[in-house]
Amino acid sequence: MCGIVGILGKHQVAPLMVEALKRLEYRGYDSAGIATLDDGTLDRRRATGKLINLSDLLVTEPLAGLSGIGHTRWATHGKPTQANAHPHQAGRVAVVHNGIIENFSTLRAELEAGGATFQTETDTEVVVHLCDSHLRAGKTPLEAARLTLARLHGAFALVFLFAGQDDLLIAARRGSPLAIGYGEGEAFVGSDALALAPLTNRIAYLEEGDHAVVTRNVITVYDETDAEVERKIETTDLDHLLVDKGRYKHFMAKEIHEQPAVLADALARYTDPSTGRIDMETGLDVSRFDRVVLVACGTAHYACHVAKYWFEDLLRLPVEIEVASEFRYREPPLNERTLGIFVSQSGETADTLAALRYVRAQGGMIVSMVNVDSSTIARESDLALPILAGPEIGVASTKAFACQLLTLAAFAISTASRRGTITGDREAELVRALRTLPELVTRALDLEPTIADLSREVAKATDVLFLGRGTMYPIALEGALKLKEISYIHAEGYASGELKHGPIALVDEFVPVVVLAPSGNLHDKSMSNMEEVMARDGKVLLVTDSDGAKAATGEPWAALELPDCAPIVAPILYAIPMQLLSYHCALQKGTDVDQPRNLAKSVTVE
Ligand code: G6P
Repeated sequence: MCGIVGILGKHQVAPLMVEALKRLEYRGYDSAGIATLDDGTLDRRRATGKLINLSDLLVTEPLAGLSGIGHTRWATHGKPTQANAHPHQAGRVAVVHNGIIENFSTLRAELEAGGATFQTETDTEVVVHLCDSHLRAGKTPLEAARLTLARLHGAFALVFLFAGQDDLLIAARRGSPLAIGYGEGEAFVGSDALALAPLTNRIAYLEEGDHAVVTRNVITVYDETDAEVERKIETTDLDHLLVDKGRYKHFMAKEIHEQPAVLADALARYTDPSTGRIDMETGLDVSRFDRVVLVACGTAHYACHVAKYWFEDLLRLPVEIEVASEFRYREPPLNERTLGIFVSQSGETADTLAALRYVRAQGGMIVSMVNVDSSTIARESDLALPILAGPEIGVASTKAFACQLLTLAAFAISTASRRGTITGDREAELVRALRTLPELVTRALDLEPTIADLSREVAKATDVLFLGRGTMYPIALEGALKLKEISYIHAEGYASGELKHGPIALVDEFVPVVVLAPSGNLHDKSMSNMEEVMARDGKVLLVTDSDGAKAATGEPWAALELPDCAPIVAPILYAIPMQLLSYHCALQKGTDVDQPRNLAKSVTVE
């Protein structure tokens, strides 16, 4: 949610900051801006809309300077106008901010009473006025920043730039991530290592409550008590972080097509074909817990929803799934026998992190599955399992979903095996099934031309229903979410059995109904539901396998035949046509696939 960057460079920083902001655009893209110091004087350029507008503005109105801060915004307080775009400035200080200042209205009233004039509708502007008031009272930049930080409530990351201070940035982290980059006679600050990847691979992450005084040659980090602390400098793998679209038109398309490869990587890490076992040394006392709660947001939540079926089946334990934003405020009774599993691509989602801390406070055990190993969620877990999807840039999650599912499946199998609820033979059978995934997913991707054709019709609809039973139910939910996210077509996912309890009222000849029904014990029931839709002229798109197609009754509008697969891999496989369908519908509608309106990839505000 909002990307921030700061550079103390040797060269002109404006172009470097625009490049860094491009790499942060996944965090927000409704407006952007930069501020630099030229001969000690602060100046800013800001533009609404995508970063390209800021780049264009910088061509006609360039900004000189070797020091600067930049921001790409996802609006929380105040519309995405130029005035509300960051950096904000008052007097001698400019600031970029990610997060929310919860007590901004109290502070604003206080500052206005003291004579401050506000130019924006943002919560952030209180930060610059507060800081400026301390500077005017004779405080040093560090003192002024500390006095300001002491007044702020909420979760945020901030970077301050001061007029006349060409070799100084002050960065502060409370709740939102911030990375410090070390260069040779240069220094950097960014929301993540990805932003800084072309600039440096030596990164330290601020911890909760830290602030840093950043100069070109010396970086000093202080904790929340203002005591000087060391934060480990890590060397990041630049090749891994430098990502582009390759031959694809969109990151989403590239990421969909990367799934066979990233699943193969994750399988190589988590399965051992020579023993037929899961290779996941967790060090957990698996006899300790008697209940599992799986908590996440968005697509990651649907991965948890699938995992509920696996965990109940394999572990024979009570399993609950929760959306993090509800779970954290409900204060459910938990104890030290609870295993909390937190799934998050970014590892920074504010609600998921808060839910994790709640489970920790109740004495529960914390396992997380994240794509960003250095993330806060990973660092606050007893065990953090990387999902190994590689950087995911498209806002709509695709390959991370597949890898979340694979990691959840591997964890469920390994834990069940160690708890003795499945035999070694069953484990080997499941591992064999998982290892078929790269091949199966490759074959599913071959359906793309057919799906592109079907999308021409589906894209005309104003409503689409997705139905599934068993593990296909969460895939129906995920299919509907993907379609909503990137094509803006209204879509609902339903458990097929619920059809007649409401959604069937929506069905007519204009409503495509995607029925996810692999062959197996639930196929007959799904066919009955499909018949109910067809009897009301609904336009059924059946997604099944060869046996499922043979046993299908009636005449669906269209059918997609996926390769036969074991039940444990079906959710991962059946998600592929859902991703392709939403992608091609979005192409039909001409929407912004990688950066759909109003969405952000990493949601670091509640
Ligand atoms: C946002 C993204 C989704 C993602 C969700 C959870 O809504 O747009 O794609 O599933 O956040 O994010 P996380 O990083 O915790 O998986």
